[in-house]
Amino acid sequence: MNISVIGAGYVGLVTGACFAELGNHVTCIDVNQTKIDRLRRGILPIYEPGLEALLLSNMHAHRLHFQTTLLETIVDPQVIFIAVGTPSDKDGSADIKFVLEAARNIGTFIKHDCVIVDKSTVPVGMADQVRAIIQTQLAQRGLSIQFDVVSNPEFLREGAAIEDFMRPDRVIIGLASDYAKCTMLDLYLPIMRNPERIYFMSVKDAEMTKYAANAMLATRISFMNEMAMLCDRMGVDIENVRIGIGSDTRIGSAFLYPGCGYGGSCFPKDVRALIKMAEQHEIDPTILRAAEERNDAQKRLLPQKIIRFFGEDLSNICIGVWGLAFKPETDDMREAPSLILLEQLIKRGAHVQAYDPAAMEAARTILPAHWFRSNQLTLVEHQYDALQQADALALVTEWKPFCYPDITVMKNLMRQKIVFDGRNQYNLHHMQEAGFQYFGIGRGLSAPVGFDTTLDTFSC
Ligand SMILES: NC(=O)c1ccc[n+]([C@@H]2O[C@H](COP(=O)([O-])OP(=O)(O)OC[C@H]3O[C@@H](n4cnc5c(N)ncnc54)[C@H](O)[C@@H]3O)[C@@H](O)[C@H]2O)c1
Repeated sequence: MNISVIGAGYVGLVTGACFAELGNHVTCIDVNQTKIDRLRRGILPIYEPGLEALLLSNMHAHRLHFQTTLLETIVDPQVIFIAVGTPSDKDGSADIKFVLEAARNIGTFIKHDCVIVDKSTVPVGMADQVRAIIQTQLAQRGLSIQFDVVSNPEFLREGAAIEDFMRPDRVIIGLASDYAKCTMLDLYLPIMRNPERIYFMSVKDAEMTKYAANAMLATRISFMNEMAMLCDRMGVDIENVRIGIGSDTRIGSAFLYPGCGYGGSCFPKDVRALIKMAEQHEIDPTILRAAEERNDAQKRLLPQKIIRFFGEDLSNICIGVWGLAFKPETDDMREAPSLILLEQLIKRGAHVQAYDPAAMEAARTILPAHWFRSNQLTLVEHQYDALQQADALALVTEWKPFCYPDITVMKNLMRQKIVFDGRNQYNLHHMQEAGFQYFGIGRGLSAPVGFDTTLDTFSC
């Protein structure tokens, strides 16, 4: 099939590369000329495991191309994916201007019947707007072209995006015609040999499914973070509670990990957008608001613990930070908890030495230049460099190399042996026995030293 993908970001590039790998001819289109120039030279704008190899092999096989407008596509697409960003607008609603622009471009350039597939996360009813815009453009061009607008929300997880795309546990498709259904089946059957896991529904139902899924996952995290606050006060270890409740099949163990807050390009903005949608329909979104408020507070918790320990003046304090990306296996720092941590520490005069296996370039681009100029923030080349003469380690992202560190090296490098574990990666008692003062999230301030109550299943 001939496919165009509008938007060459995390979703667009993964979609394009994966469909090309399945034998389709794909053109990825992005308004960012620099990004397209670099992609043509095989340089990826993002870090995503497995993506570079997929991209290069399909470029060499002439199945994957990059352009800046739909006009330049070599062959007319039968399917056009919209995968542009939908960031938060000032009031929290989804900013749909990129989707509207993509729709205008489609209406301006298409020459043949096609199926337009929206992969961007968009407010319910967006497909109707996309259809209206394209119809207006076609009318101005005096053309009568048949097209469907389908909603096919994306559920990939950054860091595991190729695997999620190639082996999805479900595909959600909202549509209203048999032609669109046949086209979508043609596209997805190669990766979905069990078509009963392709769920067809109305377009609006599919649009809402994406928001509801993200809001549910965000709420689970915020619920656990609230439980962790209670545990901290009551001398209870949340990690045992997590394992205890996660073993209940009605609850399940996924997304029950307390930490220093969720970030990234999806959960925060999608919860905000859903709150806005509820308000527009005069529904008081109490649960969504609570999930968001808890998360905002959670992002401030790790710096608060550090400030409570060292005091408000951090001018003589050096903090080593492990992890800047919002989660492991990505370089994405959008709304990452590390941003709040750095800001809170640096404004109190601390010196921060930070390391992330993938997000160093992103950090150099998005963090304020004066933090670097004033030498308050140093990005170091190796994870242990961050601990050189550090008064404490703050673990923010649970990358694998951070989960099993060399405790002896840590002890030798650090000025004070203090760990603030924002992801509960370390065994509380092992850390204490190694001479570290350990502060996790909800690990129970009064947990006794010496008697290891931590379950064996949690052993790092
Ligand atoms: N990132 C994720 O993990 C993820 C997962 C599921 C769903 N989503 C959703 O998918 C959508 C895309 O997310 P992303 O993270 O890939 O965004 P992104 O910001 O990484 O990429 C979007 C790209 O679209 C380009 N663009 C904007 N307007 C354009 C236009 N008119 N024509 C061509 N290109 C244009 C931008 O230059 C940018 O490169 C969002 O709605 C997001 O909520 C993202």
